[in-house]
Amino acid sequence: MDEMKKLVAKEALKFVEDGMVVGLGTGSTTAHFIRLLGKLVMEEELEIYGIPTSYQAKFLAIESGIPVVSLDEVDAIDIAVDGADEVDPNLNLIKGRGAALTMEKIIDYRAGTFIVLVDESKLVDYLGQKMPVPIEVIPSAWRVIAEEIEVFNATAELRMGIKKDGPIVTDNGNFILDAKFERIEDPLDMEIELNNIPGVVENGIFADIADVVLVGTKEGVKKME
Ligand code: 5RP
Repeated sequence: MDEMKKLVAKEALKFVEDGMVVGLGTGSTTAHFIRLLGKLVMEEELEIYGIPTSYQAKFLAIESGIPVVSLDEVDAIDIAVDGADEVDPNLNLIKGRGAALTMEKIIDYRAGTFIVLVDESKLVDYLGQKMPVPIEVIPSAWRVIAEEIEVFNATAELRMGIKKDGPIVTDNGNFILDAKFERIEDPLDMEIELNNIPGVVENGIFADIADVVLVGTKEGVKKME
């Protein structure tokens, strides 16, 4: 599995050009990309700036030698490279296992080209097939929002930390609800519906924004676009 992740990370480097501003995603697959990008920047003395989608990505980028900038310091983001938890045949995504979905969506959405890196286990026939949809919520409203989500025939659970003694807190100081749907028929509609609930900061459905998906398979990298 890790080999497949490395393979797609290497392939994604082909989209990088000197002078680019690159959105840096969160997760284990993108971590390979960030390390490889750092190596490329050093070896070829490229002028690349990275915009991280989380503290995890930021720390790794700095450690890898990529100059880091923030959203308000750049006019445009050329490309963003990020992972995903589910990819449907129309390139709609579920993201947010790493709880970084809000900043990921802001950056991935703004990128000229949004490139998604996955291994083949992430491909599904429809969104919601395997994974819940992570929803970032204002902490004091988590319980009422969880109730509201049940209207969509879903069950929502507060995501707990590894020790299970308290909830996960996002980089933005919020909580995460994981909402399990039977099947998401219309990803764009559900993305909008969930964001209409007061107290929802953002949700992990990324409908219609991916440009390219690089899929690591046993036979090599496959490209969906
Ligand atoms: C984090 C994400 C990740 O990109 C997604 O969970 C995939 O992670 P990994 O590459 O480790 O499987 O959305 O919020």
